[in-house]
Amino acid sequence: MYVLVARWYPAPPPISRDAVLADRQYDFTLYVTGAAFVLAQLGLAWAAFRYRDRGQKARFIRGSVALEILWTSLTLVAFVGLGILGRNAWAGARFTPAAPDAIQIEVTTNQFVYTFRYPGPDGKFGRLDPALVSAPAGNPLGIDPNDAAGRDDIVVGSLTVPVDRPIELLVRSQDVVHNFFVRELRLQQDAVPGMLIPVHFTADRIGSYEIVCTQLCGLGHYKMHGSLNVVSQSDYDAFLKHQVFIQ
Ligand code: CUA
Repeated sequence: MYVLVARWYPAPPPISRDAVLADRQYDFTLYVTGAAFVLAQLGLAWAAFRYRDRGQKARFIRGSVALEILWTSLTLVAFVGLGILGRNAWAGARFTPAAPDAIQIEVTTNQFVYTFRYPGPDGKFGRLDPALVSAPAGNPLGIDPNDAAGRDDIVVGSLTVPVDRPIELLVRSQDVVHNFFVRELRLQQDAVPGMLIPVHFTADRIGSYEIVCTQLCGLGHYKMHGSLNVVSQSDYDAFLKHQVFIQ
C-alpha cells in the first residue's frame, strides 16, 4: 500500500482529457477495492482473534444464507458499478466516432517498425496492394502507383500531430499482432492483420512521447518503438509542407 500511496512509480503526466478520465477512474477503482481489501482483512483478523482457542468446545454452524446473499450482492454492485463508471473513461472514447474534422493518419505495424501515412493535400489515402509491398524499393506500404489518390500520400517513420486537434488513427498490421501504446495518452490499441482499427485522441500538450509495442511480436519486440511528436499548428503545417516538398 505504501508503494502505491507514496507514488514510487508515478505514471507520466496525462496529455489528453481522456487520459485524465482514465487516471481518475484508475485511482477511484484502487481506492474502492483497497478499502474493501483492508475491511475484509480487518474482519478476518477480528474473527481469528474473537474465536481463538480458549479451551471451549468447537461448534458446527451452517452459515447464513441472508449474509451470503448480502455480500454477494454488495460485491456485484461494486464491480458492476465500477464497470459502468469506467464507461466514461474508456468506452466514451472508444465507442464514439472521431470528430468529423479529425485528422486521419494511418498507422502500419510490421516486424519491428511503425510506419505512418498521411493522405496528403487531396485528403485521400491511395490504394494499397500487398503485392507491391517492398521496403527496399522505397514502398514499405505497397501504395499503388496507378492510383492518383496515393501520389501525394506522405509516408514517414514517426507520428507528428498538431496540439489540441482531434486525431483519428487507422491502425493496421502487415504481419502479426502488434500494438500501439502511448503512456501519456493512456491509449493502447492492438494492430491486427486484416483489420483497420480506428482510435482517436486529442493531445493537449506539445512534446515528444514514446510509442511502444505491447504485444510480444517476435525477436525484435523489445526494441519496437516509435515517437509521437505533438507540435504547434504552424509547426505541423511546416512539417506537411516539407514532406510534400521533398517528395
Ligand atoms: Cu510489435 Cu511487439
